Amino acid sequence: MTSDKFKVLVIGSGGREHALCWKIAKSELVSEVICTPGNGGIGDVARIERVAATDIPGLIQLAKAEQPGLIVIGPEDPLAMGLADKLRAEGFKVFGPGAEGARLESSKAHSKELMDRHRIPTASFRSFNRSGQAKGYLEGCTTWPQVIKADGLAAGKGVYICADLAEAKVAVDGIMEQGRHGSAGASILIEEFIQGEEASIFALTDGETVLVLEPVQDHKQVGDGDVGPNTGGMGVYSPVPELSKRIYKQIEQHVLLPSIHMLRRERIDFRGVLFIGLMLTDGGPRVIEYNVRFGDPECQALVRRLKSDIVPILLATADGTLGSIETPEWENQTCIGVVAAADGYPASPRKGDRIDGLEAAGRVESAVVFHAGTKRNRTLDGNEEIVTNGGRVLTVTAMAKDAEEARRRAYESYDKIKYAGKFCRRDIGRRREARAASFDARSQGAPGGA
Ligand SMILES: Nc1ncnc2c1ncn2[C@@H]1O[C@H](COP(=O)(O)OP(=O)(O)O)[C@@H](O)[C@H]1O
Ligand SMILES: [Mg+2]
Repeated sequence: MTSDKFKVLVIGSGGREHALCWKIAKSELVSEVICTPGNGGIGDVARIERVAATDIPGLIQLAKAEQPGLIVIGPEDPLAMGLADKLRAEGFKVFGPGAEGARLESSKAHSKELMDRHRIPTASFRSFNRSGQAKGYLEGCTTWPQVIKADGLAAGKGVYICADLAEAKVAVDGIMEQGRHGSAGASILIEEFIQGEEASIFALTDGETVLVLEPVQDHKQVGDGDVGPNTGGMGVYSPVPELSKRIYKQIEQHVLLPSIHMLRRERIDFRGVLFIGLMLTDGGPRVIEYNVRFGDPECQALVRRLKSDIVPILLATADGTLGSIETPEWENQTCIGVVAAADGYPASPRKGDRIDGLEAAGRVESAVVFHAGTKRNRTLDGNEEIVTNGGRVLTVTAMAKDAEEARRRAYESYDKIKYAGKFCRRDIGRRREARAASFDARSQGAPGGA
């Protein structure tokens, strides 16, 4: 039987990729997991290679040398660069859309045009490639705020919600004249400001079949009670009790299925995960944006809750046979994931601090610690140590039937980890209460509850 086993190559270096490698490594089908470029923790479950996630020729060479039976592309950049197409052209089975599918995420103007064409509910918008025209349009706007977005990939930093004309002009100049987001800001969108609760839905598709994943929710802002700047995500929980089955079904019917239909009608060969960011407005769910890869830290919670072997699912998505697999089973438990961040994050996180307590953290009941911005160093006396190497350092996950218990375990595990400048949000999984509190604060006149 061993001869039927195959290698799996995972591309990326975040908590998302650690979680994917951790789960893939448990599969009976897999002989070896290889991850490139990895981080300080993925080496526990995979063999690490040193090819960067955007080194397309290097990755193709690595795939040719290793001959994996499945390649999983984690982050958006290599997808936007067409890595999946190039690997498929070499005969590999790849989880992740090609460049055309990835444009749903890598060009906001493109994705809005597609949504418009296929009548998918979203905020109305205009796109501009000259700052003068954009400012001229803004001068005529009578409703504020307006939302200004760099068109391209801006690592979650390219969106400005502008309260008035003066702010909006500063944003346009920052993006288009000062080049704050490089070529991602060569063109911009100006969108209608829509209001409501934000939510998201994740689904796997091979272009034909759609497999909706369990509800999962991240916490974007850096501070407790949803205050401060946006981050890549400070924590995660799944399932999402405040998102009723009825609403989730509504999102599936009114947004997800039409989006899959859109891909088909546009003849976009999409084999991977479609992640739709939504606003639940009074007029129903509306799309904020598409992403074409797993969210990080959402992936960590999904992977923890998935009971079934992940490999047949990823392989069927890559293969176009998603319709013939068994329905995946999910743990009927809550997963809480707390991101351990580094002082200064998101603006300028400190790096290079030694991390202790990882083993003790992993010994807490049900806890699994996924690494993100970490690195393995050799010390002068020849030992190995793990040091911080990015703004989001770890995702500490824990599970329990009872959500409170899952949360208690996650923070117990988090508290065992030591490094200089460590911080987290203390309200992960308590989004509802946190929001209510921040609305209260605002109504009492404290600006933004800060
Ligand atoms: N039209 C809009 N109306 C109100 N808020 C918006 C709108 N578009 C985006 N936002 C807010 O900005 C955040 C980031 O926007 P998004 O399009 O998801 O960009 P990205 O995730 O690529 O930075 C959203 O999560 C939402 O909070
Ligand atoms: Mg977003």
